[in-house]
Amino acid sequence: MKIGIDKIAYYTPEYYLDLVDLAHARGVDPNKYLIGLMQKEMSVAPLDQDTVTMAANAADQILSKTDKDEIGLLILATESGIDQSKAAALYVQELLHISSQARVYEIKEACYGATAALTSALDYITNHPSKKALIIASDIARYGLNTPGEVTQGAGAVAMLISTDPKIVSLDGQSEIHSEQIMDFWRPNYAKEALADGHYSQEQYLKFFQIVFKAYMQKHHLDLSYFSAMLFHLPYAKLAFKALNLALETDKSGSSKRLSQAFSQAIHLNQKVGNIYTASLYLSLISLLQFDQQLKTGDKIAAFSYGSGAVAEFFTLTIEAGFEGRLSKIDNDRLIGNRKKLSIAEYERAFQASLPEDGSDFQVTAMSKAPFKLLGIHGHKRIYGQ
Ligand code: HMG
Repeated sequence: MKIGIDKIAYYTPEYYLDLVDLAHARGVDPNKYLIGLMQKEMSVAPLDQDTVTMAANAADQILSKTDKDEIGLLILATESGIDQSKAAALYVQELLHISSQARVYEIKEACYGATAALTSALDYITNHPSKKALIIASDIARYGLNTPGEVTQGAGAVAMLISTDPKIVSLDGQSEIHSEQIMDFWRPNYAKEALADGHYSQEQYLKFFQIVFKAYMQKHHLDLSYFSAMLFHLPYAKLAFKALNLALETDKSGSSKRLSQAFSQAIHLNQKVGNIYTASLYLSLISLLQFDQQLKTGDKIAAFSYGSGAVAEFFTLTIEAGFEGRLSKIDNDRLIGNRKKLSIAEYERAFQASLPEDGSDFQVTAMSKAPFKLLGIHGHKRIYGQ
């Protein structure tokens, strides 16, 4: 029985910052961002977009009425949670009218959360093959104005419907994992912005990649020719490019050209959206599937998931028949091409705008065009609507 991703979509807010403008404002050579980090733009979330609305705006694009009735598991992976107790997934369930018989919860382990959710969905569908699971990764990456991490921010969500007989990719449940308690990136409860030991986090990402990649290749007696593409968690493209090059150093089968070509397609969307934490790997999957013209049914795609703190997992996705049709419905012109470019002053105002710290009643006035929005706060409760 094949199980995997049957439908997939992403959402990103309708505002962005050009990183060349950011470089000029911060007195940095733009090539540091464009070449040094291989990033171009980053999405900026307005006040009416949070983890819940971005998740609903992503999932709304793929769910039919039948899907909503058949969903038995809904997991929202995020590290930009809005509540210490209640799962953001419950708001999404209500907004999208998803079955009240679904098991609904939120999951967290930095950028690894969505992969953890995906493995739970795999187990769930194995045991409930007539049901579907909805996995949503939704995050706003915030490091703060004038910080080294500022250029690696972003906002967005990816929604994936998991079922038997998937039309996009299947998963085989085989993976290599490495986990360790390290302080490379974290956000204490009192902080609105993440704390990162930037260069240490880069080292750890690459170290964890080498551990799980080598273990996976050895265990399954593989060489690189097994893969048609390699996907990575993408905090910014250059770090994934370094991991790809570590893998290519082991190439004895002439696979480097093909894997490098595929990589350039897989970073396309992420270079414009920025880091969307736990959704980044899966946005890269969408990018690969949409832009790589050489992919075909049966191709094997390697995936490296990394979440600071840290947990890493290396696994394989197999391309299933029908993926082109599913991906052709994703409208990048609407989602990315039509975003409004912000000036530095507008971006800084948007970054500093916040809901009242004490939870007092508040109405969000400037509304974006997104289908689902945060309307305000009343009696310490977030009010959502369309
Ligand atoms: P930095 O220290 O300002 O940058 O911040 P740098 O000095 O290391 O320069 C970056 C690159 O630009 C270097 O390339 C420079 O040489 C190059 P490299 O040597 O590494 O190949 N450069 C130039 N290139 C061309 N022309 C120029 C030029 N100048 C310099 N003129 C850093 C970079 C990523 C550390 C910072 O942005 C940061 O702290 N970001 C946040 C942390 C992060 O993204 N870590 C990634 C690994 S951890 C992870 O992926 C998990 C995460 O997603 C969170 C989660 O799991 O939830 C973050």
